[in-house]
Amino acid sequence: MKKKILLAGASGALGLEVLKLLHDREEEVRALVHSADGVEKVGAYTQDIWRADASEGTEKIKDITKDISIVISTLGKSVSLFTNRGKSFVENDFYANSNVLDDAVKNGVERFIYVSIKGADKALEYEVAKSHKMFEDALQASGLNYTIIRPVGFFSGLNDLAIMAKRKVIPIVGDGHARTNSIHQKDLAKVVVDHLYEGPEIREVGGPLVHTRMEMAKMIEKKIGGKVIQVPEKVAEWGMFLPEMVDDDVSAKLKYFKFVTTNDMIGEKHGEITFEEYLNSLDLEKDLP
Ligand SMILES: NC(=O)c1ccc[n+]([C@@H]2O[C@H](COP(=O)([O-])OP(=O)(O)OC[C@H]3O[C@@H](n4cnc5c(N)ncnc54)[C@H](OP(=O)(O)O)[C@@H]3O)[C@@H](O)[C@H]2O)c1
Repeated sequence: MKKKILLAGASGALGLEVLKLLHDREEEVRALVHSADGVEKVGAYTQDIWRADASEGTEKIKDITKDISIVISTLGKSVSLFTNRGKSFVENDFYANSNVLDDAVKNGVERFIYVSIKGADKALEYEVAKSHKMFEDALQASGLNYTIIRPVGFFSGLNDLAIMAKRKVIPIVGDGHARTNSIHQKDLAKVVVDHLYEGPEIREVGGPLVHTRMEMAKMIEKKIGGKVIQVPEKVAEWGMFLPEMVDDDVSAKLKYFKFVTTNDMIGEKHGEITFEEYLNSLDLEKDLP
């Protein structure tokens, strides 16, 4: 018999791709989203939709895991500089997921798959990494069977650079030599669904090709325009720490952006879609504001 799944974060860049795959497999899915916009996005794939701010306590989502066997959480705060829904990384990535986890433990859920972030265990001075790691620790202590997937950046996460390119500048922090194998959210969704019933406790996942940050910026420049500008690491840090220049939310995102773009971020190779193919698939008018 098929097991019922709760997909938290179902309307996000990754969550929606996971939802589509589960729908294709005719799995029974309950979706948790935050916004009215989120409800609209998931409506074509499930009628069992809960809309709540899961960071506001367990009451708001009481029994969301009743009759659920497996939870997949792609719920988290967007790392995009162009999106801010108000709450902090700790509130969304840690508290919201912890409230779902509490409910899952109470209702006897069998398995929990959590999408964290590459670097969660290494960069605890950054709020983005710390919030994911705090939830990883809670999940590991919960007694549930689990898999934590720590992906490198998604192609959709690089849209920020593409948006900036449209506005004529592609900033690269440091020398641009750091390497990464970013992954398309569709390819990552396949990895998530492959772990539905079993998998290792932790898996660090990347895409099919490794590029330097400079190579990726040049690909964006070629496809979209703008000009690659190298920002020395020290200058980038000053901008991030000056409160009059950026608010706490943007500062947390910029700090993590600097960390991931100046350190190698490479996960196990998965998927097929290349960054160049992704850029070619973008509709510059519709997909980038
Ligand atoms: N983007 C990247 O490059 C990247 C790389 C590695 C790891 N990750 C991690 O992967 C996860 C998914 O990323 P993504 O880019 O798909 O995120 P996203 O597009 O911002 O989607 C986040 C999802 O979580 C929901 N959500 C957020 N806060 C909530 C709350 N308090 N209560 C209920 N639902 C809430 C959103 O609902 P609404 O749509 O209704 O607002 C949305 O469905 C995140 O944890 C992120 O840190 C991302």
